[in-house]
Amino acid sequence: MVIKTAEFVKSSGKWQECPEPDMPEYAFIGRSNVGKSSLINAMMKRKDLAKTSQTPGKTQLINHFLVNDEWYLTDLPGYGYARVSKSMRRDFEKLITNYILNRRNLVNLFVLIDVRHTPQKIDIEFIEWCGENSVPFSIVFTKADKLKPNAAAQNVSDYKQELLKTWEGLPEIYTTSAEKQTGTEEILAFIEKTNRFLSQNKVRFT
Ligand code: GTP
Ligand code: MG
Repeated sequence: MVIKTAEFVKSSGKWQECPEPDMPEYAFIGRSNVGKSSLINAMMKRKDLAKTSQTPGKTQLINHFLVNDEWYLTDLPGYGYARVSKSMRRDFEKLITNYILNRRNLVNLFVLIDVRHTPQKIDIEFIEWCGENSVPFSIVFTKADKLKPNAAAQNVSDYKQELLKTWEGLPEIYTTSAEKQTGTEEILAFIEKTNRFLSQNKVRFT
């Protein structure tokens, strides 16, 4: 997909405050610091469209970006950020789950996972929650540049084995590096194909 325009639309503290759900929307979710905002910038080939930080907990609101005047890309706060109070963590969780369950034009959720780690309980539980709530999702491994290609591939393969313990099939899986700009075209191709399908079938969300 050629990115002609990518503009920040707004930050929302509630799903009800998000822009009119009149275009297909794709959202990035995952643990704090996994690289959601960085990957959005890499996909849009822009340095600072989404704000990134070395400190976890940077993105605290739902951020909407409009791409090619055609679809929304959404940057969500990370889940499981340990260094905030329990009640704040619950507020973030509520913000995220309410957004996911109520956003009518949300076509697909990209669940980001750091490729360096073994499967973490919090991610596995979140993926289970998506399944229980029939939320369409794909998995995106991030920070692939931090491992040798073989080690990254091994971790992805181990992750698939873990998922197959509870899932009959596997979702779409992408391996990316925001640093090296790899894997982003594949995600954009999926979005382009999905948008074409929605428009050919005259799918409306409002
Ligand atoms: P929150 O908004 O806090 O939930 O974090 P986030 O998931 O948006 O992560 P963010 O994009 O801010 O990145 C966190 C840190 O990881 C930053 O220091 C990034 O530079 C670094 N990072 C993100 N993606 C990559 C990558 O592909 N490779 C490398 N080497 N570092 C990355
Ligand atoms: Mg962020």
